[in-house]
This record gives sequence, C-alpha cells and structure tokens, in this order.
Amino acid sequence: MGKFIIEGGYKLNGEIKVQGSKNAVLPVLAAAILNKGKTVLYNCPKIMDVNNMLKIIESIGCQVKWEEDTLIIDSTIIDTHIIPKKYVQMMRSSIILLGSVLGRTKYVKISFPGGCSIGSRPIDLHLKALKQMNITIEDKYGFIECSTDKIKGAKVTLDYPSVGATENIMLAAVLSDGVTTIHNAAKEPEISELQYFLNQMGAMIEGASTDTITIKGVKALHDVEYRIMPDRIIAGTYMSAVASVGGELYLNDVKSDHLDATIAKMVEMGCYVKTYDDKLFISVPQRLQSIDLIRTQPYPGFPTDMQAQMMSDLVVANGTSIIVETIFESRYKHVPELAKMGADIITDGRTAVIKGVKRLNGAEVFAKDLRGGAALIIAGLNADGRTVVNNAHHILRGYESIETDLKKIGAQLRYSKD
Ligand code: UD1
Repeated sequence: MGKFIIEGGYKLNGEIKVQGSKNAVLPVLAAAILNKGKTVLYNCPKIMDVNNMLKIIESIGCQVKWEEDTLIIDSTIIDTHIIPKKYVQMMRSSIILLGSVLGRTKYVKISFPGGCSIGSRPIDLHLKALKQMNITIEDKYGFIECSTDKIKGAKVTLDYPSVGATENIMLAAVLSDGVTTIHNAAKEPEISELQYFLNQMGAMIEGASTDTITIKGVKALHDVEYRIMPDRIIAGTYMSAVASVGGELYLNDVKSDHLDATIAKMVEMGCYVKTYDDKLFISVPQRLQSIDLIRTQPYPGFPTDMQAQMMSDLVVANGTSIIVETIFESRYKHVPELAKMGADIITDGRTAVIKGVKRLNGAEVFAKDLRGGAALIIAGLNADGRTVVNNAHHILRGYESIETDLKKIGAQLRYSKD
C-alpha cells in the first residue's frame, strides 16, 4: 500500500522534466499488438499502470524488455485471446485491449470491468460501436466474448465523445475491411498520439483532434520506433503544487497547448504563466484568488483529471469557488480527506462549493484514487506540520517519480513502503 509523509510549508523552486504520458502510452501499448513484429517506445513512464499493461501483453504471448526508459515489445507471437480477469480488475483501462486483440486475432475474451473508484465507467459505447463493425458480442458469466470472421468498416456515431471508446474503435478498424468513420469522436491529445503512432506503423487514419476520425483499413503494419508525448496531467499536477505552496517552477518537456484549459485557470487564480516551445514557467502570488466556476469537460475543456489537484489550490484561495464535475459521477472522494486538513468544502451531487481558508493543518489522510491522491500530496505540501497520505499505491499508478521530482524543487517528503 505505502504512504507519503510530508512536512508542509516549504516553497517550491526549480525545474522538473515531465514524464511520458500515461494515458498516451496505454493505448499505444495496446496498438503495438496489432503488428507482428517489434515496437520500440522512447520516454515510456515506469509506472504501475504500464507495468500492469505489460504483464497483460506478456500473458498473451508478447515479449517485453526495458532499456532505461525505452521499452521494446516483440509481438510476433500472440498465443491466446483471453485477457486474465485479475489484470482487468487491477486496471480498468485494460479494456483498451478489446479493439487491438480483436484486430489481431478476430477473437477476444475479457472479463467485464467492474465499477471503479471514480464512477461506474460503463463500456456500452465501446460495445455498440464494435457491433456495427461486424463483431459479435456475447456477455457470458461476467465475461465479454467478441468474435468475427472479418472486421468491417462502419459509420459510427458516438452518443458521447468517450476517450476509451474512440481508441477501441480506432484499434479495431486499423486492419479491417473498408473505411470506418467515428463521428462525435473524443478530441483529447492522446487520441492524436494514437493516430500518429498507428500511422507510423502503416495505418491510414486522419481527423484526430477533430470530431470526425476516418480509418481506412490496411492489410498489415510494420515495425516502428516512437517517442511518447509528455504527460499533460503530470505537468498540471506540478503547476498545482507550486500554485498551492508558492514559488517558481520551470517544467521541461511539455506541450503547453495541451495545457491551455489548466493554464487559463492558473492565471485566473493569479499565477503568472509563460509558455515556450517545449517548456513552461509558472510563478505564484502571495495568495491565490478563488475561481467563480470550473466545469470539467471533454478536451479542450477543463480536464476531469485535474479537478482534484485544482481543488487543493482553491481550498486555500481567497474567496469562494465552485467546481462542477460533469464527466464522472463520484469523483469527490478526496473531499472528506481535505476536510480532515481543515478545508471548507460542501458537495451536492456533481457540485462542490469551496470556501478558501487561510491555512491547512497536517493530518493522516487516505488516497482513494490516483488524482485525488496527488491532490492530497499537494494539500500536504501547503499544510502546517506533518501530513501522511496513506494508500500511496493509487498515486504510483500514474506518477513515476513524484517524490524525487518534488524533493528536487524543495519539498520535504518521503515515501515509505509500510
Ligand atoms: C480516459 C482517461 C481518464 C480520463 C477520461 C476522461 C485513460 C486511460 N483514461 O478514461 O484518465 O479521466 O478519459 O478524460 O485514458 N462512458 C459511458 N459509456 C462508455 C464509455 C464511457 O457512459 O461506453 C462515460 C463514462 O462513464 C464517463 C464518460 O463517459 O462518465 C467519459 O468516459 P471516457 O471518456 O470513456 O473515459 P475513459 O476512456 O474511461
């Protein structure tokens, strides 16, 4: 489980290199399976979610090897179509293998992903789209079995621009017969990253970052070397940390246009942000200002994955702020933990009203999910005295080196396995 022990109140100054993106690399790992050959990925984050995904692709026959932060995947042989249940339970986003294993072998059996800590996260949109592509889907005793003699291109209109559904359809369509168009597709940068990666492998996809994506099926793919883009949520998390505690930070290896919505809210709180080609500078005033309203929305709107960290800033801002979480129905599990530290927050359904307090107090708190856990670290950095953030395993799912990175810029914290 593990915990982070934080002594609060130290300003943060310096620079951090942002790790490769979790939400980009997971679909890219799934996509690698489509090729009977080798994939080399640079700037791959060494995080628990990646390790779990690697265990899954090894369990179906792939060979994987790390060389520093470079990952080599040999997917010449895939010898089973069954994704073990224990992995799907460990990592809900393994559902992304549905499209790629199907694309490679025309059959896949995967356990139904249960609820997760931030909401029920159904996969109805994924399945509805795959059915339109000549794929038969059976729901048997908690397992989904998908099979087809030939994946056929189709016109798919999503009821909602789901990131995972868009990725699964793209993955299933790459080696299909004909042309697939996805209307009302997700526009997240990770979708564009998947398009770039697949096209470098020989796929024919266009339209990512618009709401219509077109995939022309091809016969085969080829080996590829690819550098994973920087993680926009890690960058946002470190911006939030500096915003909360104060100081000056350079973030290296960022794509600042991916951060537009987050930067806009940082500026509204009174931070100064300057962007360069591949880096960003943030400095912070004496006290943050509240924000009238933050609504989480699909990209390019404000990301739900930054909601908790931003709340850790607003709890110490001057004035009252409102957050409306429109994407996931139960993504406020960090709220009672922040309240233990003295935060003044009322939630009603998807709305949170945050009255800024002058100081937070250190406390023993529990991470309930990945980003909520990061938010508790941020609150701890700013609190008087010691904060212990338990259940650190949630945070390690997505943050490669949060302890080292924050220490490097002046934070006092340590990770303990106990
Ligand atoms: C991805 C990200 C996650 C991020 C989220 C929204 C990865 C590994 N995860 O998750 O970090 O918070 O996008 O930006 O990339 N929905 C349905 N039916 C479906 C699919 C989704 O109702 O078939 C709903 C979900 O319950 C949720 C909303 O649509 O309320 C958004 O989900 P989606 O965009 O699919 O998120 P994920 O791909 O799961």
